[in-house]
Amino acid sequence: MTGAAAARRLLLIGGGGGLVGRAILREFSADWQIRSLHRRPVPGERAAGVEWVPTDLRGSVDWPRRLAGVDLVINVAWDRYGSARQFRSLADGLRRCVRACESVPRLRFLHISVPDAPASLEAGLPYLTYKRDVDREIQASSLDYSIVRPSMLFGPGDRLLTVMLRLMRRYGRFPLFGDGTYHLSPLAATDLAAILRREAALPGSRNLIFGGPTRWRYRDLLDRMYAALGQPTRYVRLSPRLSVALARTIQDLGSRLIYAYEVEWLLSDRLGPPPYLGLDRPLQSVEPFLDEEARRLNVRNP
Ligand SMILES: NC(=O)c1ccc[n+]([C@@H]2O[C@H](COP(=O)([O-])OP(=O)(O)OC[C@H]3O[C@@H](n4cnc5c(N)ncnc54)[C@H](OP(=O)(O)O)[C@@H]3O)[C@@H](O)[C@H]2O)c1
Repeated sequence: MTGAAAARRLLLIGGGGGLVGRAILREFSADWQIRSLHRRPVPGERAAGVEWVPTDLRGSVDWPRRLAGVDLVINVAWDRYGSARQFRSLADGLRRCVRACESVPRLRFLHISVPDAPASLEAGLPYLTYKRDVDREIQASSLDYSIVRPSMLFGPGDRLLTVMLRLMRRYGRFPLFGDGTYHLSPLAATDLAAILRREAALPGSRNLIFGGPTRWRYRDLLDRMYAALGQPTRYVRLSPRLSVALARTIQDLGSRLIYAYEVEWLLSDRLGPPPYLGLDRPLQSVEPFLDEEARRLNVRNP
């Protein structure tokens, strides 16, 4: 397709205000029109000429109007933590979106979900049970879809690796959950956006679990983070049980630093899936990102 033809295509993003939304904006804004539905304004969207429609996807949305002229929908919206009530209403809203999309001819639907989790979390954690409800609604629909289920994402302003680096830098010590021999395959948010562009152009329906280029042993990744900071490794070793209990205490105090389910998921060794295959360039390794973030921290707080 030529650049001029591509420019006429309209992308609707649901919940594009965060890390993935920012990366999608960078990937698509040069040659797609973008209509973005989420609650809080994002300065980058205004600068890129995005049509932002302030929307709570849990509420009633005039879908026929929002979907008019749309060629591609990417659903990103989800929260990192919340009550069953919050997730139920968001899942209900997203199901209404999926049903409305079925009436739009030749629409492609991309949805960000998450890798498999331990059975106890799949069955009992509202974050996951309602996420799977939405995944199933899409799979049962008449849409052409890709459900992409990446492992942990990184990028400027992320809430995991960047925050972990900051804590290591500040306190010198870092908790090691269990023996640290489980795995993680970090994927750049910008690579996820490039993957979404590729998936948008593919026919049929796909359900994909993937990570970045390297399957790290968690302990080795932490060591590499300390090396980026130029600090010696100093761990506070915690048994798996104590690790989850500590995260639960932090979450119960109202902090967004870490959640108990995230530690359980990590310890279950399900977050090191193989890399996505199919991009026409290599996936980005996490090391340059760690070095750059560490350099920034060291410059800011010498
Ligand atoms: N980050 C990761 O490591 C990771 C890994 C695997 C999968 N994922 C999945 O990737 C997706 C995006 O993750 P992210 O890291 O970009 O999350 P994020 O930074 O928290 O962004 C999520 C966005 O969803 C929007 N949103 C939430 N509830 C909404 C609602 N009721 N109505 C409208 N918009 C709503 C929020 O925008 P407003 O506040 O403006 O409404 C928010 O900016 C999620 O589905 C997540 O489960 C993330």
